[in-house]
Amino acid sequence: MSEHQPTPDTVLRLINGYWSTGIIGAAAGHRLFTHLNAGAHTAPALAERAGISPRGAQSLLDGLVSIGLVHLEEGTYRNSAEADAYLVEGRPADLSAMARLKLTHMGSLTGLADVVAAGGPVSDPAVEVADNPHWGQVVPAIAAQSVPAAAVAADVLGLDDAGALSILDVGGGSGIYSATWLERNPRARATQLDWEPINAIAARLLAERGLSDRFTCIDGDFHHTDFGRHAYDIAVYSHIAHQEGPEDNIAVFTRLKDALKPGGALIVCDYVVDDDRSGPAFPLLFACEMLLKSKQGGTWRRTDYDAWLTKAGFSDITFHTAPPATLVIAR
Ligand SMILES: C[S@@+](CC[C@H](N)C(=O)[O-])C[C@H]1O[C@@H](n2cnc3c(N)ncnc32)[C@H](O)[C@@H]1O
Repeated sequence: MSEHQPTPDTVLRLINGYWSTGIIGAAAGHRLFTHLNAGAHTAPALAERAGISPRGAQSLLDGLVSIGLVHLEEGTYRNSAEADAYLVEGRPADLSAMARLKLTHMGSLTGLADVVAAGGPVSDPAVEVADNPHWGQVVPAIAAQSVPAAAVAADVLGLDDAGALSILDVGGGSGIYSATWLERNPRARATQLDWEPINAIAARLLAERGLSDRFTCIDGDFHHTDFGRHAYDIAVYSHIAHQEGPEDNIAVFTRLKDALKPGGALIVCDYVVDDDRSGPAFPLLFACEMLLKSKQGGTWRRTDYDAWLTKAGFSDITFHTAPPATLVIAR
């Protein structure tokens, strides 16, 4: 028998992969990672702290051990390093909201085979329509992924000491880039363009951080709303390119080039795939999400961004990793 005789384990684990989404989403919903972090290390203690049944607590813990997010140490349960960093509430990059949100998306996967056959959404409307309530749920959840990306961009571009910067965030969502950079650079000012209900969320979050006096919102559709001319030092387009097709991305990049002051920088953040589409793993997976949810979106290759930005008039184009995303910085 060959050393590499296949067993059904891997395929069975993957077929049952939806249980990972279910278990993480339910555990985040009951704040299990936060309770573990705060000292509840047994099923009865967690059940009491979370207000859930002891049987439920034990089953969730078994599932969490199975998927590697919780370790069993001499009869007591502990968060893994990943769960501690990314699933404990209050951490800067806390993904609990994303875990809870993804659990609600699972039903839509039953239509994936039809979506694949059709080449796009078949029952639910595509996400890129005005005032889609989808965004109100997505933007607070995705903000945790934008925290490290905003930090990488600030370091690469030296934003902290760049003086009186003027920033435009297109589709800014929760306003996380503005909040991060305005805190790091007290002379910077930021403008966010998004739908009105989303701008209201951002305005509230920026107010909570005491940054309202340097933060402005423009309500509208970025396909049509004027960006201004030679007005900004920095423009941001984060987690938007994947919902748009090539022509729309080129059109937005061209208008952003014009909106930037000479020498200004555009920062695109997205799940970028290698040119031969061999990786990275998460951006490859995300292609199906865009097939399911958008009319023309996808996960685009480095060479796509390079070609589109060059066509839009940018010449100095560099790529920087901010896992699971990539930052494309263009001047
Ligand atoms: C995936 S979220 C990204 C939020 C933020 N840029 C980030 O990376 O954390 C996409 C954002 O784009 C906004 N958006 C999508 N289509 C838009 C359009 N046509 N005009 C204005 N905003 C749009 C959504 O409301 C949402 O805030």
